[in-house]
Amino acid sequence: MQEANTPRAAAVDNQVVHAVPTIKSIYVYEAPIRAWHWINACAMVCLIATGYLISAPPTSIHGEASEHFLFGYIRFIHFASAYIFAIGFLGRVYWAFVGNYHAREMFFIPIFTKLFWRELFSMLRWYLFLRAYPNRYIGHNPIARLSMFVCFVLLGIIMICTGFALYGEGAMPGHIAHTLFTSWVIPLFGSSHSVHTIHYYGMWIMLCFIMLHIYAAIREDILGRQSMVSTMINGYRLFKD
Ligand code: HEM
Ligand code: HEM
Repeated sequence: MQEANTPRAAAVDNQVVHAVPTIKSIYVYEAPIRAWHWINACAMVCLIATGYLISAPPTSIHGEASEHFLFGYIRFIHFASAYIFAIGFLGRVYWAFVGNYHAREMFFIPIFTKLFWRELFSMLRWYLFLRAYPNRYIGHNPIARLSMFVCFVLLGIIMICTGFALYGEGAMPGHIAHTLFTSWVIPLFGSSHSVHTIHYYGMWIMLCFIMLHIYAAIREDILGRQSMVSTMINGYRLFKD
């Protein structure tokens, strides 16, 4: 420690300071996006857990039926989270119109742009450990963007339509969910059973997306040249040289 005061040590210290790479940060995700992301993630965990239990119900419980409401609670949590997810989705669509450029990225894919596909394949090689360095992006990388569009936006719309169609079926004609969804979704897929099946398989696709999404976010944070998880917390993307 004492050595730090000698001229030689100071020079070395300076060198060390100058050798630290420049770190730049850019504001990317606005507060409503960040709040939505984490609320939506919690709603999704509840939807998947309760949805799975609806599809594979727990065995019956001993005692008077009137003393238990287990399946009722499971369905209640599913429906309450479904409303959070659906209203949040509408809010997120609204923010795509009023927010910054990155708020829109998830909703459209520049499929006719050569650069998009070139970047997508180069990121794919990075994910497959075939490249030493990844490219750097201010917003989403092309693979994240494509997977969010297909597995979250498109699938999310399917889950909302099929979910509310089933909900409206139980709520009976006259209920708003019946008028807006059940009336056309069930005829479109032929039967209530097929709608249940589509809704059920949708859960597994969503679960696969979430597992890969979390893996990729953490992997990029550690191996990539930019911040990831903290960007979804404080909004700033930090670039490391
Ligand atoms: C149920 C769980 C989750 C779902 C459904 C989900 C969904 C999404 C969606 C749709 C986006 C795009 C945001 C936008 O453009 O508005 C996103 C971004 C992001 N999420 Fe998640 N997420 C989940 C959990 C997590 C978790 C646990 C983490 C952290 C480990 C995380 C980290 C991130 C990051 C870092 C981004 C920004 C990625 C980028 O900049 O390219 N997510 N997530
Ligand atoms: C991505 C989000 C969602 C996931 C992962 C999910 C998952 C599931 C699963 C796995 C089932 C069981 C399917 C079966 O075996 O029949 C289910 C049932 C159901 N879900 Fe969802 N769901 C989601 C969103 C929604 C939404 C937005 C609604 C709208 C209210 C909804 C309403 C329902 C209804 C009414 C049932 C049938 C309940 C019953 O038969 O007792 N779900 N969900």
